[in-house]
Amino acid sequence: DGNYTVTLIEGDGIGPEISQSVKDIFSAAKVPIKWESVDVTPQLKDGRTVIPDKAIDSVKTNFVALKGPLATPIGKGHVSLNLTLRRTFNLFANVRPCVSIAGYKTPYDNVDTVLIRENTEGEYSGIEHVVIDGVVQSIKLITRAASERVLRFAFQYAEDVGKRKVRVVHKATIMKMSDGLFLNIAREISKDFPQIEFDAELLDNACLKIVTDPTPYNDKVLVMPNLYGDILSDMCAGLIGGLGLTPSGNIGDECSIFEAVHGSAPDIAGKGLANPTALLLSSIMMLQHMNLHEHADQIQKAIFDTLAEGKYLTGDLGGKAKTHEYAEAIIKKL
Ligand code: IPM
Ligand code: MN
Repeated sequence: DGNYTVTLIEGDGIGPEISQSVKDIFSAAKVPIKWESVDVTPQLKDGRTVIPDKAIDSVKTNFVALKGPLATPIGKGHVSLNLTLRRTFNLFANVRPCVSIAGYKTPYDNVDTVLIRENTEGEYSGIEHVVIDGVVQSIKLITRAASERVLRFAFQYAEDVGKRKVRVVHKATIMKMSDGLFLNIAREISKDFPQIEFDAELLDNACLKIVTDPTPYNDKVLVMPNLYGDILSDMCAGLIGGLGLTPSGNIGDECSIFEAVHGSAPDIAGKGLANPTALLLSSIMMLQHMNLHEHADQIQKAIFDTLAEGKYLTGDLGGKAKTHEYAEAIIKKL
């Protein structure tokens, strides 16, 4: 029983197993928080899919939530629950750090950058319609209000974590109006942060450069409209070993939800084979957000030491360990 209560959305597929690892490791590390598990199975209300009131109240009361993967239906008439959560709580900034993990070998060994993705609009606005048979429009919505708050957040974030530069990643050569607005607002806001450098890079060029040599991105915060951030963050995750190793935080003014970016992996669900690292690292971001830095540092070190040792890696990382064996190895190092 702790001083803080945090909402836990365990999620689908491997969600409950990887959530269990986080719970076990947190209790072994004596983190002063109590979990409040909520069900977010969608309900129908006036023909719309909504999140149950109980879950909404829990996140609003606790201000902080940790979330496992929720399966996303593909096709017409379904809005992803992941997106519904981001919208419901107005989680306008999606922070996705991309940091190499010592002990997990990739062609790059010193990646340390961070992407901030606008999280409420762009191509994710959900505004789509058929014009006439065979012609559809999907609207990319960019507003001054949403752009300003995520850009201001990015500059503030750079200052807080000690990055030298904020770089907008865009395609304003083609999306002249929407990305053009985003870019102009960034220029305006940069004036309020004279100590942080500011520049911009075309998205295609950024993709090419970052897979060629990621190190020039280490002193930068990359900020961009929603869909670019979705795609570029997966690409960057590939630089450090994949989605099993990358955390994220959806930040709003009133509350924040920390989540693993990977899917629910139904093929291995319930078998005790899942890698809980991404959810664990998301829970570390959550502890930092809550100012529980000592616990964050202690658990993070235990995770990195366990990965570096390489004896208890899960299958996705080329090992044979079960989820609970990996978690127990981390607990031994606390
Ligand atoms: C992500 C995911 C989501 C997205 C899906 C699950 C809706 O890919 O968090 O990056 O597209 O934003
Ligand atoms: Mn994605």
